[in-house]
Amino acid sequence: MKISIIYFSKTGNTAKMAEVIKSGMETEKNIEVRMFPIDNVDKEFVNDSKAVVFGTPTYYANTTWQIKKWLDESGAFKLEGKIGSVFATAGYVQGGADTAILTIINHLMVKGMLVYSGGASLGQPYAHLGAVTLQKNMEENEEQFFVFGKRIATKVNLLF
Ligand SMILES: Cc1cc2nc3c(=O)[nH]c(=O)nc-3n(C[C@H](O)[C@H](O)[C@H](O)COP(=O)(O)O)c2cc1C
Repeated sequence: MKISIIYFSKTGNTAKMAEVIKSGMETEKNIEVRMFPIDNVDKEFVNDSKAVVFGTPTYYANTTWQIKKWLDESGAFKLEGKIGSVFATAGYVQGGADTAILTIINHLMVKGMLVYSGGASLGQPYAHLGAVTLQKNMEENEEQFFVFGKRIATKVNLLF
């Protein structure tokens, strides 16, 4: 089963956490994961994917224009019926990472994706709207991102 991770990362934090999610996914059987910077997304692989995960830095308490533009212009991508998940990095705990995630989730809902965060009911590390870290403590949040990826891959194998 294929899974795509699509992200924007200007200074590398979001890309680094995408790698951690990927390694968590790859602990599950029968999973092939590829990461795509937002300006170089392989349409065929995404269309073949069972889950598409979006990663964003938090800019002005929201996602970035690059992610919004991609979503606005994503008509050629078949996202309907796939699992859709979101993660964010941010500078400040009060900096709006959840709003960044929710902006993307709005799009995923309109696309008909099956939005999945894992959810806090699965226990620690708790996921709420998606995986989130501040740039200053990415290392201590690696487990959260690893488990986030693993849970998405588990769900892919269960559903598809
Ligand atoms: C233009 C700009 C705006 C930002 N706005 C916010 C913000 O509103 N809230 C916040 O928590 N962090 C903000 N940040 C910090 C970034 O979200 C944070 O450094 C992030 O990890 C960068 O991700 P990247 O290294 O993948 O590019 C901003 C950074 C930039 C460059």
